[in-house]
Amino acid sequence: MISQKIPDSGIVLLEERGYELVYLDQEYPLETEELLKVCRDADALLCLLSDHINADFLQQCHKLQVVANYAVGYENIDVPTARERGIVVTNTPDVLSKATADLAFGLLLAVSRRIVEAHQYILEGEFDGWKSTLLLGTEISGKTLGVLGAGRIGTEMAKRAIGFDMDVIYHSRSPKSHLDDTGCRWVDLETLLSESDFISLHLPLTTETKLIINAKTLARMKQGVYLINTGRGKLVDEQALVTALRTGQLAGAGLDVYELEPDIHPELTELNNVVLLPHIGSATTEARDKMAGLCASAIIDVLEGRTPPNQV
Ligand code: NAP
Ligand code: GLV
Ligand code: GLV
Repeated sequence: MISQKIPDSGIVLLEERGYELVYLDQEYPLETEELLKVCRDADALLCLLSDHINADFLQQCHKLQVVANYAVGYENIDVPTARERGIVVTNTPDVLSKATADLAFGLLLAVSRRIVEAHQYILEGEFDGWKSTLLLGTEISGKTLGVLGAGRIGTEMAKRAIGFDMDVIYHSRSPKSHLDDTGCRWVDLETLLSESDFISLHLPLTTETKLIINAKTLARMKQGVYLINTGRGKLVDEQALVTALRTGQLAGAGLDVYELEPDIHPELTELNNVVLLPHIGSATTEARDKMAGLCASAIIDVLEGRTPPNQV
């Protein structure tokens, strides 16, 4: 069972193995109860991060052996229930790390150099010649980037920042020697908040990380920080973010994900110091093809009695 449209590379792999596919090739999620109606007899489910695979769903799909999530984040799946029922859950790590870090770094440059605002300025017919003070932004070299969540994507973000001569500090539950070896420095959350000029979120959404950026943590940041979020929308209290952007506590924000996605806090769309993207972190042809391949291979592994490498 494939819950929404995915690249053909994944479909081909499953078809070659001779599996009977129920493929809902629409580009929107079904309500969980609707998905259940068509999935009840499936042995395997390939789903997207917008599908909510809850306990009830997992309990009612009696034959289900594997849920392959077409994403690296998997907070949309009730993993403890899956585990109880012996259902394997897999995700798509690594293959999207560079693409997502590229996008996060793109957001960092876009907000610090006002790239989208400048594009808009051109479209509005305002450009009438070079000016010494036109659309001044902030230099990034020599500034401190705080990477919050230093896993696969956070590591790629740190590498990019080092290439741009930024100083990188990071916070994760444990220090990472591969990052320390490149001149990055592990700090506690408090230090990351108070020392960074730019903060980029690369945490998974869990009960511990939910709303980690809120009015209190925003107040502990330096005045004029830029916040980049390609992690998950619910890491950030969006109302507090809007307030901080309005008061100047934050100089700008680059966002790919939203607290109530796909809804976006209406005030965010009125601010000119934000760049908003529609959750396209992993949206390269290369990454998406590999993600489809990983999902298909995981399903094949489980149905053929092997443990997939990307089990969560
Ligand atoms: P990962 O390799 O598992 O990295 C997660 C990092 O977060 C790890 O360094 C982990 O620390 C840290 N962490 C987890 N809980 C923490 C806590 N309570 N306090 C401090 N640090 C904590 O994951 P990834 O592959 O880099 O992906 C990260 C997230 O990016 C995904 O979960 C997903 O939500 C998001 N994402 C978004 C897009 C997009 O399209 N915008 C694309 C891909 C992924 P330890 O290593 O010390 O445990
Ligand atoms: C995308 O957001 C992912 O988690 O892969
Ligand atoms: C700008 O275009 C310059 O030459 O400095």
